[in-house]
Amino acid sequence: MNLTWTLLFLFLLLEQTVFTLSLPFSRRHIDNPVSWVPGGHHRYCDVMMRRRWLIRGGKCKQINTFIHEDLATIADFCRTPPVPCTGSRSLQSCHNSTRDVSVTDCFARAGTRPPYCHYHKKDSTRPIRVGCEEGAPVHLDA
Ligand SMILES: *[C@@H]1O[C@H](CO)[C@@H](O)[C@H](O)[C@H]1NC(C)=O
Repeated sequence: MNLTWTLLFLFLLLEQTVFTLSLPFSRRHIDNPVSWVPGGHHRYCDVMMRRRWLIRGGKCKQINTFIHEDLATIADFCRTPPVPCTGSRSLQSCHNSTRDVSVTDCFARAGTRPPYCHYHKKDSTRPIRVGCEEGAPVHLDA
């Protein structure tokens, strides 16, 4: 193999690693382009929290953010200088996004219970902070 092919191969291997390590992160947080949900966009959180298996056990997950950008864009933030994480005790360093990203934040309504968890939603464009392992996003810190 010549150098170009070797580099291409290593690049693909790296991309694959990011993809695999980030699978749980992608399931919880990446929705790009924004999914269509039956019943109208106001039901986005109610539907997406179920679709992504975030309603489990006896509780409705209280808060979750869906990011409307592709994983590669978010993985790029892993290369920025590390900052402390605020939402994880196991991860040592997190990374601020270099620009605002399009997100939908979902907040459980007071008293909501499975199986029908109801959410408030807030669409915005804001900075995020991710926790990374080996260059792959694994945790959404803020
Ligand atoms: C990262 O973002 C936080 C706000 O979430 C800010 O307080 C902090 O100064 C930022 N750090 C850097 C290095 O940009």
